[in-house]
Amino acid sequence: MEIKKVMVIGAGQMGGGIAQVCAQAGFDVKLNDIKEESFEKGLAVITKNLSRNVEKGRMTEDEKNAVLGRITKSLDLQDASDVDIVIEAAVENMDIKKSIFKQLDGIAPAHAILATNTSSLPITEIAAVTKRPENVIGMHYMNPVPVMKLVEIIRGLATSNEVYQAVEDMTRKLSKTPVEVNDFPGFVANRVLMPMINEAIYTLYEGVASKEAIDEVMKLGMNHPMGPLQLADFIGLDTCLYIMETLHEGFGDSKYRPCPLLRKYVNAGWLGKKSGRGFYEYS
Ligand SMILES: NC(=O)c1ccc[n+]([C@@H]2O[C@H](COP(=O)([O-])OP(=O)(O)OC[C@H]3O[C@@H](n4cnc5c(N)ncnc54)[C@H](O)[C@@H]3O)[C@@H](O)[C@H]2O)c1
Repeated sequence: MEIKKVMVIGAGQMGGGIAQVCAQAGFDVKLNDIKEESFEKGLAVITKNLSRNVEKGRMTEDEKNAVLGRITKSLDLQDASDVDIVIEAAVENMDIKKSIFKQLDGIAPAHAILATNTSSLPITEIAAVTKRPENVIGMHYMNPVPVMKLVEIIRGLATSNEVYQAVEDMTRKLSKTPVEVNDFPGFVANRVLMPMINEAIYTLYEGVASKEAIDEVMKLGMNHPMGPLQLADFIGLDTCLYIMETLHEGFGDSKYRPCPLLRKYVNAGWLGKKSGRGFYEYS
């Protein structure tokens, strides 16, 4: 199964990054969003990233323009009618993802792979709304996509070996490292990472230390490049909350209960870096 044409759904921080690395690897990419302004914002970030690469001598201006030339705007899911793979990176919400996959199932060619970049939602449940669950798979990139090497590849219950292999091969073409994981809440990355972030928020909530102190302890003490509260801001607090709720519901274990402070921030619209304010302020 050869993949040439790609559609990425959601031009936010993840979808934009995925579109960028796919276009850099020579794939034709349709970048889809429901909002034109989100597409424009996503394209502006991609252009800025590529310009930085030119400034640092990592690519030429011609190469940058060729990469940008491989990305086309899409505001309509019907554009999936001739692609080989769709990589969905819309918001972390099961109802939205199910609606997108159901529509795609009726639009994308029969051979097309439907992949999701979900951080934690069950691949098997998303696959079940389609008539091609063997072609549905998790392709979980890390943030920031152009920098991070790992892609967790998650097999749903029905994912075929052929589809798994095609996605693993594509991941290597993107110069990334695929790691095979089975479909359980949070997979591996977020099952381990999110409870740590949630616990850091509890530590702040209970007044054990200031946000700066918590982040400093984890940076200097554990050699993490970034503290957990700053990392939560970068991931997006809405995404963090949604993942904790998925773990909580999926395992039915109270150790995964989301910290009330996290919920409060999300309700206030303090979503982290993308909204200008989370645990820290961003201008
Ligand atoms: N942020 C992270 O660090 C991270 C890491 C790995 C995976 N993820 C996952 O990637 C996905 C996207 O996260 P993000 O951080 O890029 O979110 P984001 O909020 O930055 O971007 C989401 C984009 O999807 C668009 N969108 C919403 N509904 C849509 C629809 N029906 N059709 C098309 N576009 C739609 C929005 O307009 C927005 O541009 C989520 O599932 C998230 O869990 C996030």
